[in-house]
Amino acid sequence: MADRAIIGSTPAGGGVQHFWLPHGTPQLPRIARARGVYVWDTDGRRYIDATSGPVAVNLGHGNRRVLDAMRRQAGRVCFAYPSYFESEANTQLADLLCAHAGHGLDRAFFVSGGAEAVEKCLEFARLHAVARDEPGRFKVISRFPAFHGSTLATQALSEEWHKSPLRPMLQQWPKVPAPFSYRPAARLDAEADATRCAEALRETLLAEGADTVLAFIVEPIMGLSGGAAYSSPSYYRRIREICSEFGVLLIFDEIMSGAGRAGRFLAAHVWPEARPDLVVLAKGLGSGYYPIGAFLAPEHMVAAVVQSGGFHLGHTHKASPLACAVGLAVLHELISEDLPARAEATGSYLRDGLEALKADIPIIGDVRGKGLFNAIEFVADAETKKTLPREIDVPMELSRMAMERGLLIYARRTFGGRFGDWLMMTPPLISTRKHIDEIVDLLASTLRDYEDDLRRRKVLP
Ligand SMILES: Cc1ncc(COP(=O)(O)O)c(C=O)c1O
Repeated sequence: MADRAIIGSTPAGGGVQHFWLPHGTPQLPRIARARGVYVWDTDGRRYIDATSGPVAVNLGHGNRRVLDAMRRQAGRVCFAYPSYFESEANTQLADLLCAHAGHGLDRAFFVSGGAEAVEKCLEFARLHAVARDEPGRFKVISRFPAFHGSTLATQALSEEWHKSPLRPMLQQWPKVPAPFSYRPAARLDAEADATRCAEALRETLLAEGADTVLAFIVEPIMGLSGGAAYSSPSYYRRIREICSEFGVLLIFDEIMSGAGRAGRFLAAHVWPEARPDLVVLAKGLGSGYYPIGAFLAPEHMVAAVVQSGGFHLGHTHKASPLACAVGLAVLHELISEDLPARAEATGSYLRDGLEALKADIPIIGDVRGKGLFNAIEFVADAETKKTLPREIDVPMELSRMAMERGLLIYARRTFGGRFGDWLMMTPPLISTRKHIDEIVDLLASTLRDYEDDLRRRKVLP
């Protein structure tokens, strides 16, 4: 019988293909089970997960304490609507999360995932502006490139979708350039480029009319938009100053970088000078065990919104007891196992391994990252940083080759390759040095074979 599933099914499977799988993609393996940093398919093949899925499964798979907490909560009650009932899981999760997020991020609102959390955060920001008697503020500035999700509102903030047929349906928000330390604008060093990008925010605010702008949203460490690229402390300080000067809210989208991934509880803690007004989390918050996202806000903003009528823009599954119980168990694990600090140490060991590969494998142009949020970028020529030809789908080819060798990687290209090809190195935060050694060895053999292949195809000399 034909396979009727849409997501994940390929032409070979007879269903409608997943949007990013090109025609001719071979049938994907079927997942059988997963434990820790390993995943097995139904043919019994084992894969090591160097990506945590799409940078989500921070705890690794099959964590007993999280599964027990999920079972316990499910046995009591899965669902209760917050308009009728409070839930202990919700209040405990909010308290623990805010305690670790730190002063100024005092309250949490829970939803089902990343894009929904970004949208709720923007709606909350707008209600706050209206409550403060600033109804003229509604524009949201984002960076180029950026990725904030795939709903219509979050696509509008994400230049990823420039060629999408959906483009006419997207609100045209102002964009400012994101600094790329590896590829700064021509003739500038990374620091000067970061200053240029921060000043572009100021100019855009003035051009748009600063009192029409609600917020500036930033991935403090770029995810799908730029492969773990981040900027210097002066950039984060400067954007904070500019936002404060014009009364614009600074939002950190920490859907990838948060929950310990960057070697601190939040990436905002890596650059304390940034002091974002609002922070959005998802992915690692539920670690793939259950869908959950959140935005965090300061008490004074919540008080203003509550006084002017409250925030009633949730969805059916907002703050569901089951989601919150899983989030709470994930957070307990993160804290009791000291996973942010472990990510910091293991991440530095991983980058050492990748730097050693870079010395040996010419197509590796850059190794970068914080904690276990890392990427390597590919080049045709390390000297000139020339990218590999855009007509070659490097990410797809590499992912496939790695998978054949039992290695799961998350390879991407931003803006059709204009900002290069790269792959995320984001294994679960529980990864040990032994796991990292295994990942680096498998990656080395994949990349050496890929280089040979590119030479055979005359792409490389
Ligand atoms: C920075 C960032 N924001 C938002 C999202 C969207 O999250 P979700 O896929 O849970 O909607 C993602 C997903 O990759 C992301 O990386």
